[in-house]
This record gives sequence, C-alpha cells and structure tokens, in this order.
Amino acid sequence: MKNYHQLFIFAREARNHAHVPYSKFKVGAAIEADDGNIYGGCNVENISYPCGTCAEAGAIAAMVCGGGKKIKNILITTDGNPLITPCGACLQRILEFSDSETRILLADDKDIRKILSIQELLPNAFKEF
Ligand code: THU
Repeated sequence: MKNYHQLFIFAREARNHAHVPYSKFKVGAAIEADDGNIYGGCNVENISYPCGTCAEAGAIAAMVCGGGKKIKNILITTDGNPLITPCGACLQRILEFSDSETRILLADDKDIRKILSIQELLPNAFKEF
C-alpha cells in the first residue's frame, strides 16, 4: 500500500466507535495485514479502569481473529493533538506481529504526521529479527 489514505480513513472510522466515558480521549487504529485485509480497533474503557483496552490491542485482536499473521502497517489516530505513540504494552503487542518492514504511522485528525519502525520505538527489544 503506497498510499496510506485508505488506512487513515479506516482508523478514523474505528475511532468514532471508541468507548471513552472516562478519559474522553478517542483513539482509532487500523492494520494493513499480510493477508491484504485491513483490521480496525478503538479504545474501550471500563469503569474498572485497568480493564480498559487500547485501540492497537483491539486492532491486533481483530487481525488475529480474521486470520492475519503479520502487521505490514499500523496507523494510529486521535481526534487532534497531541500525536500519540503506542504505549509500552502495545509496542510489545505490535512487536509480536512485526518484522523489519513493519511501519507505525502516527496521525492526527487531518493527516499522517510520522512514520516509524518498531525498532525505533522499541529498541533492543526481546525479539530476533
Ligand atoms: N490509548 C490508546 O488507545 N492507545 C494508545 O496508544 C495510548 C492510549 C487510550 C487508552 C485510554 O482509553 C485513553 O487512550 C487515554 O489514555
């Protein structure tokens, strides 16, 4: 996928469904997987705060459930500023399904602002490439 527009639109749509009564901070994620499909996720909070899940975790679960094995690209979008990078736990989740070609795209409401590799975000990680 040279043009990431489709991934961006998918993540923004997923973000609309976020369940965020506590933080009011909507996050959407979309994965382009090795099977050619796009899988979405949004954050789902819970009154018992630690039970909440990140958008990236939702998208990864959808990918695995749908039969995808590798993340080619994962795009994460918020409704505006600040631009966010995946949390530590989600970096580890992304790493599990990444290779050196995997790209992590960070977007605000308007566009993609940064494209990074998992090695840049999680250097010296517990995985062999
Ligand atoms: N959140 C995500 O969904 N992804 C991230 O990369 C960072 C944070 C969510 C968790 C929580 O529902 C809200 O954003 C505020 O932290």
